[in-house]
Amino acid sequence: MTPFEAIVSPIEQEYRLFQSLYAEFAVTDNPLLREVLNHIVHKKGKQMRPILTFLFAKLFGEIGDSTYNSALSLELIHTASLVHDDVIDDSSVRRGQPSVNASFGNKVAVLSGDYLSALSMLYMARTDNAQMARVVGQLAQTLSDGELFQLFESRENVVSEDIYYHIIKKKTAALFSACARLGAISADASPDDVEIAARIGESIGLCFQIRDDIFDYSDSTATIGKPTGSDMREGKLTLPIIYAIRNFGTDEMNSMITRLKAGELSDDEIHRLINFAIENGGVDYAEQVMDGYRQKVLALLANYDNKVVVDAIVAYLDYAIHRQN
Ligand code: FPP
Ligand code: MG
Repeated sequence: MTPFEAIVSPIEQEYRLFQSLYAEFAVTDNPLLREVLNHIVHKKGKQMRPILTFLFAKLFGEIGDSTYNSALSLELIHTASLVHDDVIDDSSVRRGQPSVNASFGNKVAVLSGDYLSALSMLYMARTDNAQMARVVGQLAQTLSDGELFQLFESRENVVSEDIYYHIIKKKTAALFSACARLGAISADASPDDVEIAARIGESIGLCFQIRDDIFDYSDSTATIGKPTGSDMREGKLTLPIIYAIRNFGTDEMNSMITRLKAGELSDDEIHRLINFAIENGGVDYAEQVMDGYRQKVLALLANYDNKVVVDAIVAYLDYAIHRQN
């Protein structure tokens, strides 16, 4: 069994049905919008976030209509946020193909992202459940808040691990947390179990982002689907370089960070910073941090005896930590 098969094995049928339901969002009589939506559907990724919703519904009870509707809503808001993010970051590649902004321009990308957000709300409305709709509303607030905070932070001359966690909690972990939370709510889990699900989702999301950030320090652009060093090029500091600078930063390195934030570094200097982070244990440290979150998740999962689903959630966590792209 591949790691991915281990993750989806308890929810295989539901995942397949979800995928066919998801493809329906590209149906529209607007030709330009249809082209954009087909472009997005063409590289839809593994859709890891809805999988988490299904796994948590299965952990606590039955997968039902509100599980599907919230999974669809969450995947759509996630997709909308990536379309907008690529405009903000001026990124030309997403999932190994041209980003929407690269193919269709910024105006079309912003409006298509808005369209996907609106669809996301419509799917939540189908649940007829205000508690569930509130989760997605709050998530949209948190994502935008996190992205704005990151934008502001990348202009400030600070190197802080706390700020890093603050950003990744908002921009990434909040989504995974909402996925787990809505899965649990959709299966009528108790309030305590819903909170535990949300905490597990958050820790998985933190690992997911830390791994994503580590990719930026590797040298295999081909497998990752986007250029390495791109976070630094965008003025973003991630855990490996934050650790190395905080613990071993020289005056020269600190002044490079100031220039990084101003977007003034050459490719050569970015490579020097990447090597500095690796040589000073920054990537190893980030791996240790992920292991800390892994232990927390295992302790929380010990409350539950549905072994088939618990094992799949652990496989999911390990995938978030060890994935190659
Ligand atoms: C990717 O981060 C971006 C996010 C995880 C969140 C983006 C959120 C917004 C743009 C807010 C929009 C909100 C709504 C409701 C539509 P990254 O740039 O670090 O990762 P990347 O390398 O994959 O681009
Ligand atoms: Mg980006």
